[in-house]
Amino acid sequence: MDLVDALPKAELHVHLEGTLEPEQMMYLAQRNNVLDQIPYDSVEEVRKAYDFKDLQSFLDLYYAGCAVLLEQQDFYDLTWAYLERAHAEGVVHVEPFFDPQTHTQRNVPFGTAVKGVHAALKDAEAKWGMTSGIIICFLRHLGPEAALECLEEALLFKDMIMGVGLDSTEIGWPNKLFTEAFTRAKAEGFRLVAHAGEEGPAENVHQALALGVQRVDHGIHSLEDPDLLKQLAERRMPLTLCPLSNLKLKVYDGELQERMQELFGLGNLCITVNSDDPAYFGGYMSLQLTTEL
Ligand code: ADE
Ligand code: ZN
Repeated sequence: MDLVDALPKAELHVHLEGTLEPEQMMYLAQRNNVLDQIPYDSVEEVRKAYDFKDLQSFLDLYYAGCAVLLEQQDFYDLTWAYLERAHAEGVVHVEPFFDPQTHTQRNVPFGTAVKGVHAALKDAEAKWGMTSGIIICFLRHLGPEAALECLEEALLFKDMIMGVGLDSTEIGWPNKLFTEAFTRAKAEGFRLVAHAGEEGPAENVHQALALGVQRVDHGIHSLEDPDLLKQLAERRMPLTLCPLSNLKLKVYDGELQERMQELFGLGNLCITVNSDDPAYFGGYMSLQLTTEL
C-alpha cells in the first residue's frame, strides 16, 4: 500500500449510483434479466460510451445505467463493492449520496434502496470500524413538488438517513426552487447539503447557502464572486471539490488546473477532495490526490 492509500480519509461527496462499475452493471443486468433495458451489450461498449462533453451528457448515461438496480440485494452489492474499494484506499468515514427518485420513478420502492445501502454501511462499520451517514439527494430536474414527495417517503426511514442534498442538472434548475423541501427537511432534523456552482454560476452557491446547507458540493464556480469567496472563508463553509469529475465533465475546460490552484491558493477556504462518480470518471479517492488535471 503506498503512502496516499495509507492516509486515513473521509469521503464526503460520492454518489453510490456513480460507483456502478461497467462489470457490475453487466452482471446485474444479467442477474435481473434486464439486458434489454440498458443501451449496451458488453463491458467494452459501456466504457467506450464514457466520453462526456458536459454534466448533462454524463447524467443521461448515469441514469440509464441505474436500470439494473432493482432488488435490495443489488443496492447492497453496489454499496459493498464501493466500500471495499474505499477501505482499500484508506477511507475511514463516508457520507454517500444516493438518488431515491431515480429508483422510485422506476417503481423500485424507496425502502428497497435505502435498506440495501444501509445494511452494507452497517456491515462496513462492523468489519472495519468505518463510520458513515446516508445523504439522500433530490433530483433538481424533477422539480420542487417531487422533492417534497421524496422527503415524505424519507421520513418513513428517518433512522437510516442523516441528511438531504440536491443534485442533477444545475442550469435551468436553480437551488432556490427547493426552499420549501429544505425548510421541511431541516425541521425534521436532517443535515443539509447541496450541489452548487459545479457548472452553474456563483449565484447558485449563494442560493445553496440560503437553503441553510452545512456544505456546498463542488462550488468551484464560487471563483467568479470575490464576495462569496470571502463569505465562504469567514463561515468555514466546506466545499466538497471533485477534481477528476470536473476534468471529465469539462468544467473550466482547458484551465481547470489553474482554477483549482487559484481556489487552493486562497489558503483560507475549507476544501475537501472527493470522487463524485468514480466508476464513470475513472478514479476513486487516491487518484483524486495524484492526478494531473
Ligand atoms: N449526480 C451524480 N453526479 C452528479 C454531479 N456531478 N452533479 C450533479 N448531479 C450528479
Ligand atoms: Zn456530485
